[in-house]
Amino acid sequence: MASVLVTGAAGFVGSHTVEALLAAGHHVTGIDNLRTGSEGNLGAVAGHPAWRFIRQDILDADDFRHAVRAAKPEIILHLAALVSLPESIADPRLHFDLNVRAVHIVVDAAAMAGVRRMIFASSAAVYGESDALPFDEESPTRPLNPYGEAKLAGESLVLGQGRARGSDAVCLRYFNVYGPRQPGDSPYSGVVSRFLDRLQAGRPPVIYGDGMQTRDFIHVRDVSRANAMAVGAPAPLTGVFNICSGRECAVGDLAALMMQEFMSPSAPVFEAARPGEARRSAGNGARAKAVLGFSAGIAMAAGLGELKGISIAY
Ligand SMILES: NC(=O)c1ccc[n+]([C@@H]2O[C@H](COP(=O)([O-])OP(=O)(O)OC[C@H]3O[C@@H](n4cnc5c(N)ncnc54)[C@H](O)[C@@H]3O)[C@@H](O)[C@H]2O)c1
Repeated sequence: MASVLVTGAAGFVGSHTVEALLAAGHHVTGIDNLRTGSEGNLGAVAGHPAWRFIRQDILDADDFRHAVRAAKPEIILHLAALVSLPESIADPRLHFDLNVRAVHIVVDAAAMAGVRRMIFASSAAVYGESDALPFDEESPTRPLNPYGEAKLAGESLVLGQGRARGSDAVCLRYFNVYGPRQPGDSPYSGVVSRFLDRLQAGRPPVIYGDGMQTRDFIHVRDVSRANAMAVGAPAPLTGVFNICSGRECAVGDLAALMMQEFMSPSAPVFEAARPGEARRSAGNGARAKAVLGFSAGIAMAAGLGELKGISIAY
């Protein structure tokens, strides 16, 4: 069992991942400044003997280095980021700090503390636009927006340092993650949680564009399982891995499915497409299956059905 430090531990993916790591028997230190995450997300692990939470901003590099030295993790899983694509366009300074500078700080602290494996939360946004679907890890990377560019830069910092130090460097390219605890009340939120938020309020979903754009949706518990598998895999482990379901789903079809679940009587509302968004996206998960033994297990209908009964940000 390993000692693992998770940045962004109180967030959507982070909190589920902490649960998965503790269930697998690891010792986990979580760091989060609660910018978008909350301690409430970590309620299920409160008091666990192998769990410790530190409220801290990783941009305070000295404090972060100190925390890493004190925790002595063998593995760092770096999840903290500014996740929203529109926000990355609206606030370039914050975007640079959280999506580029923070990666450098984490990688630097990992080197100083002799961490043996860095795992970085990358994104399908690195691929950008193409009709040659599904994307595999050798597909060209042509990001359409600053968020995707920053994730590529982050990958290069993590992989470059792994090469230089001879340590493991793993970049997990998550596709569109959905599930409990994903905030849905902002235009910056993920599409499933935005639709859910509207439907729970008795209002129709808002679709940006014509609804024909496609995404590969993967449940957050599958992503957390992939994270735990990347932590538990034997060394050496280095490279880039798609974490996806492999299914291409149109956003209009997603809206129809969710409206059916909620028996919503009204038609969806269409608004102008947002800049920087790819037309189509779907991943090929063969490499993650071959190397990590991971494949997504939660079908969309089951994942959405589970959300129906609960407030998504519980
Ligand atoms: N959600 C998705 O669909 C998706 C898709 C691809 C990749 N990702 C990546 O997965 C990771 C997790 O995303 P998420 O959806 O859980 O987002 P999230 O916003 O819920 O989680 C990010 C966490 O990082 C914390 N954080 C932000 N800045 C920080 C700082 N300076 N210091 C300490 N903590 C800080 C936030 O408070 C939050 O808890 C991100 O790296 C994101 O880019 C997410």
